Amino acid sequence: MANDTLTVTDNRTGTTYELPIENGAVRAIEFRQMRTDPDDFGLKVYDPSFMNTASCISRVTYIDGDKGILEYRGYPIEELAEKSTYLETAYLLVFGELPTRSQLANWVHEITFHTYIHENIKKFMDGFHHDAHPMGMLVSTVGALSTFYPESKEIFDEEERMTQIYRLIAKMPTIAAFSYRHSRGWPYAYPDNDLSFTGNLLNMLYKLSEPKYSPHPVLERALDVLFILHADHEQNCSSNAMRAVGSSHVDPYSAVAAAAAALYGPLHGGANEAVLRMLSEIGSVDHIPEFIKRFKAGEGRLMGFGHRVYKNYDPRASVIKRLAYQVFDVTGRNPMLDIALELEKIALEDDYFVERKLYPNVDFYSGIIYQSMGFPVEMFPVLFAIPRVAGWIAQWYEMLHDPEQKIARPRQLYLGEPKRQYVPLGQRGQIDAA
Ligand SMILES: CC(C)(COP(=O)(O)OP(=O)(O)OC[C@H]1O[C@@H](n2cnc3c(N)ncnc32)[C@H](O)[C@@H]1OP(=O)(O)O)[C@@H](O)C(=O)NCCC(=O)NCCS
Repeated sequence: MANDTLTVTDNRTGTTYELPIENGAVRAIEFRQMRTDPDDFGLKVYDPSFMNTASCISRVTYIDGDKGILEYRGYPIEELAEKSTYLETAYLLVFGELPTRSQLANWVHEITFHTYIHENIKKFMDGFHHDAHPMGMLVSTVGALSTFYPESKEIFDEEERMTQIYRLIAKMPTIAAFSYRHSRGWPYAYPDNDLSFTGNLLNMLYKLSEPKYSPHPVLERALDVLFILHADHEQNCSSNAMRAVGSSHVDPYSAVAAAAAALYGPLHGGANEAVLRMLSEIGSVDHIPEFIKRFKAGEGRLMGFGHRVYKNYDPRASVIKRLAYQVFDVTGRNPMLDIALELEKIALEDDYFVERKLYPNVDFYSGIIYQSMGFPVEMFPVLFAIPRVAGWIAQWYEMLHDPEQKIARPRQLYLGEPKRQYVPLGQRGQIDAA
């Protein structure tokens, strides 16, 4: 049987090293022993954007991008989307096992009882400009929660930590809904703790003068399924931000604000908005061949297609596509769907997309569903952040328990100027004097 090692010869010195391979990886620190002389720092590995670097050992989420597999704690996403609820899935992500009946009841109770926010947070939110982007409001307000709960700094106190976990999962929908209502100029609607997690979110978003809001059960469940699908995606940009910022042992509200800020970027949480823009630009099924030609010529990209990890159909996209029909039975068919379906059909038969393994990703259909449910595009990243907080917490919780994790502090390859002497202002030439 072959050794699980990697033999490396440093041709600068002729020395050969044998590095252990564990779990399909070699430890980067092993390269440090490869020096040209005793003063040499040792060899580093260069990997911008972590293209091939495992930053942690994780047991939360598994993805096989070639096969189109996504599992939370070993459970296939399709099965969770069909049988679980968002709150049960959040428990699974954070603690590693599906809850028993009493564990689930306690978890749901605690989260339901932390949905209210301090009145001063509401006043603080009033201070945002009338057309403030809801995601900008969410990022800042979730960070501000740390000032309301200073005990959240006690991140190694298990009881305190649990309280902050309940609060984070519970208050994200409230802050999200208040951000939305602020941007519409509507009065805030308080949480209704008789409703489910997503039923209450719909209540806080859409309740007007009715004494009690009743969410449509199909839309309530559809949102819950969308939340399950978005709850975690292993070491993506925002989870990496959560771990990196959390590794300084800051309180979880500040770390979640950093993660949410990462999600705000158009390359991460904003792609479904781009899909909708593209679909309206295409405008009708007849224009698709012309647009496909343009995408192939490198004039823009077919948004919602392709993924850094998935080189197969994104399993979340299949679930969302089925979900779309259920939502449209209630809301009426979104005309964008016909364009999306035809676009997908043509792209999946086209050599350009086939050769590059470009398949629909999670964002291809989610924007159409959100739009049909009445959400404006500015709310799309917010609707991503609400469930993703479960994943961020799970990643953060795991990191805090991992004895190998220290403060995240990458190395760099310095290629700037070598040491030089300060030049007084009067002796720096006249380049910009003209
Ligand atoms: C997601 C994405 C950024 C992944 O990028 P990546 O893994 O770095 O892939 P690359 O940018 O290296 O693309 C590989 C090839 O496929 C092409 N390609 C990738 N996505 C494409 C798309 N959506 N439309 C057209 N061509 C695409 C690239 O032009 C490149 O072609 P080339 O080899 O001829 O140069 C990319 O597929 C993309 O921009 N998709 C659209 C945006 C989107 O939906 N984002 C949401 C992701 S969840």
